[in-house]
Amino acid sequence: MGNSFCSDGSFTTASFTRVLTYGTFDLLHYGHIRLLQRAASLGDYLVVALSTDEFNASKGKTSFYPYDVRKEMLQSIRFVDLVIPERSWEQKISDVKDFDIDIVVMGGDWAGSDRFEYLRDYCELVYLDRTPGISTTQVKKNLNV
Ligand code: CTP
Repeated sequence: MGNSFCSDGSFTTASFTRVLTYGTFDLLHYGHIRLLQRAASLGDYLVVALSTDEFNASKGKTSFYPYDVRKEMLQSIRFVDLVIPERSWEQKISDVKDFDIDIVVMGGDWAGSDRFEYLRDYCELVYLDRTPGISTTQVKKNLNV
């Protein structure tokens, strides 16, 4: 704490803990907010890697809000320090290195997944319990969108 960092996310002092999480964060809801709040509380600086529309399309997913709108909403949350694009499954090691990440945090739905477990060689990996009873899928179903 009390250290300085640059607007591009670069940082030099080891005592500063940097946290990274991934997701689409479409139709932002309280499950997302709680995840981000708890992720931020594990460190001093929270980076969110936000799935691009193209990456989601490659997974057969279409978000209700486009990337720029989802990014704008995330950037307005006080727990979030930086939003970067998630363009592929393979970028995580370079994200950890490029942004000096100490902890990658994901919701418990990803616990034990091959998509994240290898990151233990590069940083700490923490899975947080999901907030029960809410998801983007559920909101869409409820609103019929
Ligand atoms: N998340 C959470 N609790 C919820 C919903 C999501 O902690 N009730 C977490 C996820 O585990 C993930 C992050 O929020 O780490 C972003 O999740 P995302 O997949 O974008 O949101 P979902 O609501 O799970 O979306 P979907 O229904 O499309 O899977």
